[in-house]
Amino acid sequence: MKIIFKFLKWVGIGFGLFVLVMTIFVMIKKDRTFDAPYPKISAVKDSLVIQRGKNLVYGAAHCAYCHAPIEKVDAIERGEIVPLSGGHVFDIPPAKIITPNITADKETGIGNWPDSVLARSLRYMVGHDGRALLEFMPFQNLSDSDLTAIISYLRTTEPVKNTVPKSEWRLLGNILKALVIEPVGPSEEIQMSVKPDSTIEYGKYLAQSVANCRGCHTDRDMKTGKYVGPFYAGGFKMPSEINPALLVVSPNITTDPTTGRLANMSENDFIQRFKKGTIIKESMMPWGQFKNLSELELKAIYRYLASIPPIANNTGPVLIPAE
Ligand code: HEC
Ligand code: HEC
Repeated sequence: MKIIFKFLKWVGIGFGLFVLVMTIFVMIKKDRTFDAPYPKISAVKDSLVIQRGKNLVYGAAHCAYCHAPIEKVDAIERGEIVPLSGGHVFDIPPAKIITPNITADKETGIGNWPDSVLARSLRYMVGHDGRALLEFMPFQNLSDSDLTAIISYLRTTEPVKNTVPKSEWRLLGNILKALVIEPVGPSEEIQMSVKPDSTIEYGKYLAQSVANCRGCHTDRDMKTGKYVGPFYAGGFKMPSEINPALLVVSPNITTDPTTGRLANMSENDFIQRFKKGTIIKESMMPWGQFKNLSELELKAIYRYLASIPPIANNTGPVLIPAE
């Protein structure tokens, strides 16, 4: 008997020590920083470039969907130009992430961050303070000229003073930050510029690197953001922002005849669908911002999606109970 108690005592002490060491390790490593090159990108004053940036910010790249306060939801739905003053909350398992103010305000926005710092966070996902940014933004492969256009436009925005609360990281999030989350850089060679036209090539660029169609319409692990299903076959379950009791499931947007949404949508149906905006109010899709997509952009995206192999994957109903 005595021997067993002694043994259990040592197991207890051993386990306690292990937890202590792990806790100290996580506390030290959770704020680890990373290095990445600073892209040679500088804002310009050319009005055509600034206009291109504005079109991307309030259209395909839908920055306002995430960087405008939630009170602006109706204006965003109407596709309006709302200030990017931050404060949108994403409540995901690792943390309550609160988006930063990205207006030109020097104190509470990005007014004092150099162009190269902004360019590095969008291209290499290494934030201004060196931390790895969570994979919310898909802009790593943006062309040099589109990155320049976006930053040039951000420089022209009206500064809005708005101090956004800090994101709140849970234990799981701190463990992931210490051990798993690393910055994700470009996956292909960066192009100087990509010509906006109705080609499959431009559609692919928009769907993957700008509008994040792939990021939402592919199944992903909610904890790490990693892709776990075939691209564009849907099945990514996101917590609804309107009703926490529901999960929103992204549909399959391939042309698979039985399970793909594109099978029964002509190019014109697709364009008309985007003009309508949100139909399912719990939807996470930034329909309001996508109302600002041009027909050319929509054609390109449609043609790209129609060109990829159909994938059979029944994603079931769009709204399901969150457990
Ligand atoms: C799907 C939501 C989403 C979209 C769309 C989005 N962002 Fe973000 N952005 C975030 C989140 C979330 C963070 C904070 C990430 C973190 O702290 O890990 C962030 C952080 C940032 C940062 C701060 C990086 C740093 O250095 O700390 C900048 C700058 C930024 N976004 C700019 C943009 C621009 C410009 C666009 C549009 C071209 C955009 N974002 C679109 C969600 C989004
Ligand atoms: C933030 C996540 C998100 C992004 C980004 C996103 N979607 Fe969606 N999408 C959804 C969800 C969720 C639904 C299901 C609810 C709905 O219909 O609004 C959906 C629905 C759809 C539908 C079906 C609509 C219908 O009425 O049948 C199509 C088509 C579609 N998305 C295409 C796209 C394309 C193309 C892009 C990129 C330009 C895109 N989505 C970007 C989440 C997203």
